[in-house]
Amino acid sequence: MKLLKIISFTLLILAQVSFSQVRIVKELSSNWKFQKGNAKNAFEINFDDSKWENVTVPHDWAIYGPFDKEVDIQSVAIVQNGEKVASEKTGRTGALPHVGSAWYRNEFTVPNYTKDKKVILFFEGAMSEPQVYLNGKKVGKWAYGYSYFYFDVSEFIKEGENTLAVELTNKEFASRWYPGAGLYRKVSVIVKNKESIDQWGTFITTPFISDEVAKVNIKTKVSGENTRLVTTIFDAEGGNISSEETITKYGNEFDQNIKVENPIVWSPDNPYLYTAISQLFVENILKDEITTTFGIREIKYQANKGFSLNGKVTKFKGVCLHHDLGPLGTAVNKAALRRQLTILKDMGCNAIRSSHNMPSFEQLELCDEMGFLFLAESFDEWAKPKVKNGYNRFFDEYAEKDVVNLVHATRNHPSIVMWSSGNEVPDQWGEEGVKRAKWLQDIFHREDPTRPVTVGMDQVKATMESGFGALLDVPGLNYRVHLYEEAFNKFPQGFILGSETASTVSSRGIYKFPVVQEKMKQYADFQSSSYDLEACSWSNVPDDDFVLQDDKEWVIGEFVWTGFDYLGEPTPYDESWPSRSSYFGISDLAGLPKDRFYLYRSRWNTKEETLHILPHWNWEGREGETTPIFVYTNYDSAELFVNGKSMGVQKKNATTPQNRYRLMWMDVTYEPGTVKVVAFDKEGQPIAEKEIKTAGKPYQIILNPDRKTIQADGKDLSYVEVSVVDEKGIPCPTVTNQLKFKVKGEGVYKASCNGDATSLELFHLPTMKLFSGKLVVLVQSLKETGEIELTVTGKGLKTGRTVINTTN
Ligand code: GAL
Repeated sequence: MKLLKIISFTLLILAQVSFSQVRIVKELSSNWKFQKGNAKNAFEINFDDSKWENVTVPHDWAIYGPFDKEVDIQSVAIVQNGEKVASEKTGRTGALPHVGSAWYRNEFTVPNYTKDKKVILFFEGAMSEPQVYLNGKKVGKWAYGYSYFYFDVSEFIKEGENTLAVELTNKEFASRWYPGAGLYRKVSVIVKNKESIDQWGTFITTPFISDEVAKVNIKTKVSGENTRLVTTIFDAEGGNISSEETITKYGNEFDQNIKVENPIVWSPDNPYLYTAISQLFVENILKDEITTTFGIREIKYQANKGFSLNGKVTKFKGVCLHHDLGPLGTAVNKAALRRQLTILKDMGCNAIRSSHNMPSFEQLELCDEMGFLFLAESFDEWAKPKVKNGYNRFFDEYAEKDVVNLVHATRNHPSIVMWSSGNEVPDQWGEEGVKRAKWLQDIFHREDPTRPVTVGMDQVKATMESGFGALLDVPGLNYRVHLYEEAFNKFPQGFILGSETASTVSSRGIYKFPVVQEKMKQYADFQSSSYDLEACSWSNVPDDDFVLQDDKEWVIGEFVWTGFDYLGEPTPYDESWPSRSSYFGISDLAGLPKDRFYLYRSRWNTKEETLHILPHWNWEGREGETTPIFVYTNYDSAELFVNGKSMGVQKKNATTPQNRYRLMWMDVTYEPGTVKVVAFDKEGQPIAEKEIKTAGKPYQIILNPDRKTIQADGKDLSYVEVSVVDEKGIPCPTVTNQLKFKVKGEGVYKASCNGDATSLELFHLPTMKLFSGKLVVLVQSLKETGEIELTVTGKGLKTGRTVINTTN
């Protein structure tokens, strides 16, 4: 029955679109020509681009490398990191060739075009400073690479072939991380009638919700005279719930209030989505139609209570994410984003902060669907620079436009529960900055009265003095755990958000001895220890945040820096080439979980058991030496055995933050063999156990795809985890063999990544070394259904082979 409903719902939509053809959205993904560098007259219609590279969009021109120390080398003191003297920062923006100009050209026809149509050219992001030409004429420009923007190109478009040309420029010293380069998000052409719904013209809110009924308010801005709007709401199964027809407009806006009986509210646990279909008529002729997905949910921020969702106090168990997708660079890919969220969901994470810029639409759609709360951020800089060529150059001219576009484009996503107007902006100092904070917050409020605004503050003392922190809807503290209490007492809001927390550093599978807490610790191999005790001078280890989250009810949650490693910002090795990506991630650049993943999981995933042992147990040469063992678990106590000998029982206790959240056996002496942990329930009864073993010689390559079946759409990805085991099948945790990849059938080799922040191997070449015994190969579908075979070979190792199916 459910299926029938879905089919008829889909048919209904399809029928309406193909029958009416009132609005056509054509994504410009193929047929692109690309060239790096300045190209004279490349905007002209007859320009010869036949020798340019063929690319598809989304595209990141810099991810193919090579890594080069000289790219965007920045000789600076990073003031927000407490540096006073300038030094040479090598991999700060990823050491990939993103600096410079480039051109994209596309020839396209406009379906169903007639002179009376309205045509919109829409960019979901362009890195950066796009100059846009259509048929030889300039149609517009933008500045910020993360903004969504569009132009009405009705007067430039023609029947038949049209020539679009886009010039992009990335300056050096413009970013603090890898920004990517190019048309890295979708570009599309929208053809509609003169009488139509405006771009981002709908705004859906749910001002009243009870068990019996919800009031859905739908504001719809339209163009054209004598129009009539019919809005119909469907439930997630496609059932028609209610419909309203309206002829009265307020200015150019319809304002409808539609009743939904027995509403199912949206939440991370039950991300239930409704759909509104808006149809615009003139007399009986359908002129436009759009579909908007929304959720029914109530958010509240209250003193001493914090954040509640649908009446239930909910803490943010969140992570900050940069926009790059590791080996794919910044070219947006929904499958890659879905995988990230799947990994985070398993960790028990319920919230994402798009640091420090506008998120992709794909990410928001997935957060709506999969159930994540979202903190949508806008800027890393206002008028005062952090980097010489950063957003400060555009702030005065663009800040309002950028905020308006962010809000209009994304406000119907139920996942978004808070806006952020800035991150650690140097404008935290001084009177001007306070005015800017208020000005920006007022713009957010004007465009969206339903959600609060925060700023991630690192200059907490200054913002206490100036009034900056007091005026924000949500005071966000970045780090500064020692100032939470004071800020809470001083600020009037009655709660504090950990807008950015931890910044603990670690490398997957790498352990350093002796095991001690350290700040800015550096080692000769440019790795950080995975005992999760190393942080930066301004930051802290996870446990320090846990204490505040657990003990202070007025702390409304945290956004950990970061969910995944990202390209650029290789702190604490900012000056150490070849470090070129971060160490902050809970999972590495390949998406493989580090030990820390299990520490967060043991707290955040309250439904499933976590029982994780670290370090690995392959320490040839450490025989007889002290080799501490940690266990990350949701259980309170456990007993540890090495080769059957008890190392004693450990119980979580409040003597130190680490003792409260981890089980630690500090005096274990290394001997090869078996480490076993037995966890106890509250009554002291054994409830679960786990073992790890010392591996013998590397013997065989093992492949483990995250998805065995993917879509035959030319975009979908299977992430195949590659590891090596010994003859008995025990994982070899330290091997670094060079491997080779071959893909046959209905797919292609896309990229690989091993999570080593110091590796200069290129992601798109079909060979890579293992790092701590693992790497990931990304296999991408073609457009035909069938089988894809991945073969992985390595000298002296038994070959690994796996098959992935592609379907429609
Ligand atoms: C914060 C900043 C982040 C990142 C992080 C590293 O101060 O907001 O973008 O730089 O530090 O610890």
